[in-house]
Amino acid sequence: MDLSGKNILLGVTGGIAAYKSAYLLREYQKAGAELRVTMTPSATRFVGAETFSTLSRHDVAVEVFNDTNPSKSWTKHIHWGEWADLFVIAPCTANTLSKLVHGQADNMLTSVALAARCPLLLCPTMDAEMIHHPAVRRNLKMAEEYGFHLLQPESGYLASGLEGTGRLPEPEEILKKTVTLLKQQRAKGPLSKKKVVVTAGPTREFLDPVRFISNPSSGKMGIAMAEAAHSMGGEVTLLHGPVESPLPDRFRRESFESADDLFRLAQKHAKADIVIMSAAVSDYKPVERNSRKTKKKDAETTLRLEPNPDILALLGKNKRDGQILIGFAMETDNLENNALEKLKKKNLDWICANNLTGDGTGFEHDTNQILLLGKNDRKTFQGEKKIISRQILEYIFKEKPKR
Ligand code: CTP
Repeated sequence: MDLSGKNILLGVTGGIAAYKSAYLLREYQKAGAELRVTMTPSATRFVGAETFSTLSRHDVAVEVFNDTNPSKSWTKHIHWGEWADLFVIAPCTANTLSKLVHGQADNMLTSVALAARCPLLLCPTMDAEMIHHPAVRRNLKMAEEYGFHLLQPESGYLASGLEGTGRLPEPEEILKKTVTLLKQQRAKGPLSKKKVVVTAGPTREFLDPVRFISNPSSGKMGIAMAEAAHSMGGEVTLLHGPVESPLPDRFRRESFESADDLFRLAQKHAKADIVIMSAAVSDYKPVERNSRKTKKKDAETTLRLEPNPDILALLGKNKRDGQILIGFAMETDNLENNALEKLKKKNLDWICANNLTGDGTGFEHDTNQILLLGKNDRKTFQGEKKIISRQILEYIFKEKPKR
């Protein structure tokens, strides 16, 4: 089972099966997923939060208010609902089930469940007598009506010493259900059946075999855009320059080095339904490229440069009906005006304007601040590149994911 690149939020509630959640977390990680954990206060009576924070290599969210460290904003955890591709509550006690179907938010787990826009998978786990109680049966029915996904408990030996239905299914079953749900989610995504081309990373313009002109682009924003488009159902092709960031292999990838290489690839994919041009393309290339290493001299020297093709402007010029072109604008001055000018000049539908001088924005960072500009629209996005990429595409394509 492959869950690489998927963000799974694991909710652990206060039942004896909470100890099994640690194994479940490990199985998710082995399948390639990234994990964060939220626990109810009573779950911590069964397993310490430290177990989950060590395994997930991340803080565990238990309390809404952090008295010991108020600087750790409680709203941070609300963002987990946006970060997650799936929120899995395993085990889910009768108490938490009841809170979820009645919209209660009295701890971090239930608050995140209300805020989450991703699908919710509940693994109800309790004693057989409890699961047959009419109130629990009704809550389970309500959970289905709300569109929560349920994985029915298994039968067998229970912690009470009795035999019956109520056991937490094996991790393999939960992972299988996860894969199915994520596939279904993709199929009904707003970009389903759309061909999406995303470019990422820098170009390199070689002067000789050992020197080139380039820029510090890490490709992180483009890769995040490609991931977001893929999770929204798009048939994604990622065109990437030389980057060190890990490249997902869930979708097609083709590599480029120079702007001319990228130009050829862009022409090959010019019919795509959506083009997202996040690559940092060098505007110039050396007039000459020496096949041998240039030797140093004790004198000034001049480098002659000629312009590269403006790939996005050419795509804009030949834009077909219904095609959506999304560009980026890297600016240090007059962010909005310069970006709006590029939007018009390159015949784009949207432009993501990036102020390179802000804190935690632009090249190499994991976070970014983007001013998204459309022909009659403007909206700011700020936060982790992985999260805002998704928000930007959801905003552009106007559909919120369904549970
Ligand atoms: N771009 C492109 N081909 C180029 C240069 C840029 O396709 N030769 C694309 C970038 O990928 C980006 C958009 O055009 O989506 C704007 O790039 P940017 O570097 O901000 O602006 P430029 O058009 O190069 O203008 P300037 O450098 O003068 O700001």
